Amino acid sequence: MSYETLLTESRGAVALVTLNRPKALNALNSTVMAELADALAGFGKDETVGAIVLTGCEKAFAAGADIKEMQGIDFVDAYLGDFIFGWEAIASVRKPMIAAVSGFALGGGCELAMMCDVIIASETAKFGQPEITLGVIPGMGGSQRLTRAIGKAKAMDLVLTGRMMDAAEAERAGLVSRIVPAERLMDEALEAAAKIAAFPRAAVLMAKEAVNRSFEATLSEGLRFERRLFHSLFATADQKEGMAAFIEKRKPEFSNR
Ligand code: CAA
Repeated sequence: MSYETLLTESRGAVALVTLNRPKALNALNSTVMAELADALAGFGKDETVGAIVLTGCEKAFAAGADIKEMQGIDFVDAYLGDFIFGWEAIASVRKPMIAAVSGFALGGGCELAMMCDVIIASETAKFGQPEITLGVIPGMGGSQRLTRAIGKAKAMDLVLTGRMMDAAEAERAGLVSRIVPAERLMDEALEAAAKIAAFPRAAVLMAKEAVNRSFEATLSEGLRFERRLFHSLFATADQKEGMAAFIEKRKPEFSNR
């Protein structure tokens, strides 16, 4: 599939999606959002793909929603058009997504990274929700996902002051899973994605679903949900294979069944 604002490729069982508007620091305009939703839906359906890596360019993962496109929008346009179109589709991809972040991840860019399941950051990464400096607030989930990821104190600090945090602060705060030197970023993200993609698909999707449920449910409901998913995995051939291989001291051969 070829896109105007994205590069997409499959590397074995890993799909790589690269935001490709480097001159605009990968600002997320409506074309990017629509193409991203389309590409991710396609890889979501593609049985050969087990995990997805989303990245930008060296200077920016994405510097936010496209301010030039947004500038002229009035309330009625925004409300009736349900601006910003498409992000729910991105956040509801069932396969694991890794954001490989180099440079700026600001506003909608930070929010897009937070829609992924794992954020791997280069030492150059900078995260922030600077919408307040433009007279608005985060509109793609930042006030909710950032607060859940790093807690109220830091989220308030970032959302109210619009300041950026560097990779080290983001890792300390719990937003980022790993920091790597810039030149290692893509290898680290692709290796992590390949590792995930090689595990039994049903267990991987259920693991993602179970962790995500912890943000929505009470502890007792979340625990019950986890237990039911755990039980259901005993119906899979891959559970039999995984445990037999452990006992027989050999490498498992998973079939995604
Ligand atoms: N939208 C549109 N264009 C953008 C952009 C954005 N969010 N961010 C950068 N660009 C463009 C610039 O306009 C510039 O284009 P021109 O060359 O045509 O002038 C180009 O990208 C390079 O940017 P700079 O010259 O500004 O680069 P810099 O290195 O001096 O600064 C930066 C980098 C600090 C990231 C700065 O570009 C910046 O502050 N960008 C805006 C960040 C921002 O406010 N993001 C939030 C947007 S609102 C939002 O995202 C709402 C939401 O929650 C969904």
